[in-house]
Amino acid sequence: MFNTEQLKQITLQITRIAREAGDFQIHELKHFELNRIEHKGRTNDLVSYVDKETESMLIKSLKKLVPEAGFETEESTIEQSTTGLRWVIDPLDGTTNFLHKIPAFSISIALIQDDELLIGVVHEPSRNECFYACKNGGAYLNGEAIEVSNIHSLSDSLIATGFPYSLRGKTEEYFKIIRHFVETTHGVRRLGSAAIDLCYVACGRFDAYFEFNLKPWDVAAGILIIREAGGVVSNYSGGPDRCQTAEEVCAASSSIHPAIVEVIEKYWN
Ligand code: IPD
Ligand code: CA
Repeated sequence: MFNTEQLKQITLQITRIAREAGDFQIHELKHFELNRIEHKGRTNDLVSYVDKETESMLIKSLKKLVPEAGFETEESTIEQSTTGLRWVIDPLDGTTNFLHKIPAFSISIALIQDDELLIGVVHEPSRNECFYACKNGGAYLNGEAIEVSNIHSLSDSLIATGFPYSLRGKTEEYFKIIRHFVETTHGVRRLGSAAIDLCYVACGRFDAYFEFNLKPWDVAAGILIIREAGGVVSNYSGGPDRCQTAEEVCAASSSIHPAIVEVIEKYWN
């Protein structure tokens, strides 16, 4: 497989590929019209030609970079692999924001060997911020090393969350957790891109992020970036993350993670 030096080299190439794709998205954002939206099923689950064209651009470049890797992608524009060496890609995380011209959207690319995260890159084009990490290589934002916050009290924290497309009958429980955090922390934010939320935990802007019913491409890259920045990602019981299903994601700086899990567990089951 790859050694750390090879992973670092591949990571830098991916950041270039992600930046190119980001330039395309910024260009399209200026011309996009809301009548070009398609629905994926639910009324709130949207997609556009920008998601699909970005995915095709990424696939074309990533195929050249690591030809032996398969693909697991949100828009399924290529045959899908869910095991072995593969790219796990969300070409446009925060599609709803993009479609409404809200600048919080990102490109999320991970390289995974079976369940092992090797590389994660999340690029936020509107802020020109590219977050990246490779296994055992540390986490970076535009070339500068990043780390999670070091706070010890919920009352000093800023928490992020998201609203999954389906709350799967757990609306009451979920909003009780949100209410608890609204009343006991600096506040709760909902940016609209899970990949960005995770990266903002990694660089200490947020102290924690939780959501559920996500997909591997929403979280794979961000999970590695948080781990390499010294943070913890778990399920809602504090157990090991299951980024392959992304069913429950609780990401936080290590100093506050136990307190976050305690609150979530209190209301969740
Ligand atoms: C969505 C975003 C959002 C989260 C949703 C995701 P998409 O991904 O990450 O923040 O709350 O659960 O599905 O559809 O914009 O790629
Ligand atoms: Ca997504």
